[in-house]
Amino acid sequence: MKIGIVGAGMVGSAAAFACVMRGVASRIVLVDINRARALAEAEDIAHAAPFAGATRVDAGSYDDLKGAQVVILSCGVGQKPGETRLELLGLNAAVFRDVVTEVMRASPDAILLVASNPVDVMGQITTALSGLPPGRVIASGTILDTARYRWLLGRHLGIAPQSVHAYVLGEHGDSEVLAWSSARAGSVPVGDFAAQIGKPLDAGQMARIDKGVRRAAYTIIEGKGATWYGIGAGLARIVAAIARDEQTVLTVSCVSDVQGVREVACSVPRVLGAGGVTEALVPELSTDEADALRASAEMLKETFSAVPL
Ligand code: 2OP
Repeated sequence: MKIGIVGAGMVGSAAAFACVMRGVASRIVLVDINRARALAEAEDIAHAAPFAGATRVDAGSYDDLKGAQVVILSCGVGQKPGETRLELLGLNAAVFRDVVTEVMRASPDAILLVASNPVDVMGQITTALSGLPPGRVIASGTILDTARYRWLLGRHLGIAPQSVHAYVLGEHGDSEVLAWSSARAGSVPVGDFAAQIGKPLDAGQMARIDKGVRRAAYTIIEGKGATWYGIGAGLARIVAAIARDEQTVLTVSCVSDVQGVREVACSVPRVLGAGGVTEALVPELSTDEADALRASAEMLKETFSAVPL
């Protein structure tokens, strides 16, 4: 399995490192407009390979993406402190117009995995520019928000995040929706389990968790300028699902109809394997959650519709 990564900044490099540590690929090629940066990151990450799987890591050009099964697009700019993801759209859309053409020329059969923000809109732009079927252009969407949600819930409940089954839906951004009504600890509703252990999920606690998920990136960016480990691990998790044809359920974004909104890229839990995304599994939602998901999807669709392609 060969993986291409376009954009060797912190997110692309963290994804490469996480892929090496997971041993999901035999070869990783880093492409960056800053060739020296790509070379340096590739060499640094290659030095981790002897401690993990036997992955070859190189810097290369677009031509070197030939034969890649997955190409991660992590190029463009990231948020500065206080900036929203949507504010990056103009610049990153301009970058993607060239990048997607180059990637499609070199590697027309690859699944494209979009990580640049605003990730849902960038995913829909990539789908339009590439002409690929929607399930073969996947944006990382709320995979990271879902991880943050499960981690915070797990901490409150005193159980491993892996045993918390809970999803963040809609935009990877300010309008995202934490699905509380379907959240489970094991198979028990989280509210019931919280009451059982004497740590009720009251309105204050739910608001703290909501803020912890929704504001996580802002807080981290304020402290260290960017986020990269969480998303790097999330991207490697998606690559693993594709590499092993897992048919695993992850909250990723791709173009589909969501909550009555036609052809919009946003996240719901989706089945992911070697062919990309196949099915969506929208959990049962309360009326408020369903309304919030529809509003998030409508906002994303409107934002995408205003982008000149
Ligand atoms: C994150 O949520 C900034 O989108 C990035 O960490």
